[in-house]
Formats: sequence, C-alpha cells, structure tokens
Amino acid sequence: MIIILNNKCNLSKEEFIEYQETLKTIKSPYKMVLAPTFLNINLFDLENFNLASQNISAFNEGAHTGEISGKDLKKSNVTYSLIGHSERRKDQRETNRDIQEKIKRALENDIIPVLCIGETKSGRQSNRIEEVIKKDIIEATCNLTEEEIKKIIIAYEPIWSIGTGLIPKNKDIEKVNKLIKKILPNNTIIYGGSANEENIDLLKKCSSIEGYLLGGLSLHPDKLQKFINKI
Ligand code: PGA
Repeated sequence: MIIILNNKCNLSKEEFIEYQETLKTIKSPYKMVLAPTFLNINLFDLENFNLASQNISAFNEGAHTGEISGKDLKKSNVTYSLIGHSERRKDQRETNRDIQEKIKRALENDIIPVLCIGETKSGRQSNRIEEVIKKDIIEATCNLTEEEIKKIIIAYEPIWSIGTGLIPKNKDIEKVNKLIKKILPNNTIIYGGSANEENIDLLKKCSSIEGYLLGGLSLHPDKLQKFINKI
C-alpha cells in the first residue's frame, strides 16, 4: 500500500514548515509520499515520507523557460513524480504525447512515474470510460519498453470525483481497475478523487486498490492519521 499526498498549489514556505512538523508525527505501516509545491521541495525534511514532484519537465535541460528537469528533481531527492494529473491536462493542455515524454524523463532519472488517468463526467455519462482509460494508457506508454512500463504507478482518478466529495461505487472502481490490470498486469494501481477519513470505510473494500492519491486530505494531517488507521 502506498499513500501519496498531493499538496497542489497550497502551503506557503512558512505554512509548509509548520505542516511538516505535524507530518513528522504521522504513524503509518504504508509507504508514504509527499508531493509539495516546487518551491517547498528543497524544504522537505521528513524521514517518514518519500518525496514526489507534482510535475516533471519533458526536457532534461536547455532553453525551456519555466521548466524543472528530472535531473534537478533527482538532485533534490525526488523519487516519485505525478505525471498527467487532470488539472495539468486541463490547465496546461498536456497531451498524452507530452505525458509520454515526461514519463521517459522520469525513468531516465530514476524517478517513479505516477501516471494519472480518469474519465470526465461526460465520459462517464456517455459510457466511454473504457475507451478513455485504454487511450490514455496506450498513448502514454506506446514507445516504452516492458521493463520501463512495469515501473509506472497508475493513479485512477475519475475527474468528476476530484475535489467534489463524490466517489464512484466500488463495483465501478473494480471494473476500471480490472481493465487497467488487463492492459498492465504488473503495475500498481492507486485510487484518487475525494478519498477521505469517512469514505475510506467503503473504499477499503475494493481489493484492487493498492494505494491512494490524496489532494484535499493531504492538508489535514489529523484526518490523514484517521484515514491511515482505518485502512
Ligand atoms: P482530492 O484530489 O483528494 O482533493 O479529490 C485528488 C487529486 O487531485 O489527486
């Protein structure tokens, strides 16, 4: 089981320092990973967490203003990177082609890619979940070797569930995870989208979930501890 905290665009330097003090007290038998903002990455100072970035550049160096390379992330002790989060696909118009390049840069720098995929509300309503999931996986991994693909963690995050308080029915999560396993039998699959200390009682009954990606809950260490205890 792996639990990844995605701070998104939250926590100033001062707030992050205080936040880390609370995270130090988190007790978990599971692998814990923290994805702070880029500015907070070099303030990371936790022995009970691994470090992740929320994004990685498709370039290793050069004339790419505003980019942060896998090479530099590695030097700052980053060992995981979120790639293709739906907020980046939407806000930065990231395509599966960009995402594939980012996965390659992560792997070249010995960073574990956490590939985020999931359907929109309209995708769900029009019964296109299978199509979207397959497309996102195939287009993001088509030029990678089997060995490389195995290293990717898949985060299934239904977009309509992120930050909304809504979660899919367990049987729907199981169905999607089964499809993912059919395409990628050796990859770890985690769930993301409004997971919290209350609905974990339900979510934990999904045997196909091997971890969680937590946005909102990442900002509430007390609730996070409850969440972990309930798993
Ligand atoms: P949420 O975010 O837990 O706030 O829904 C999850 C995510 O965006 O990774």
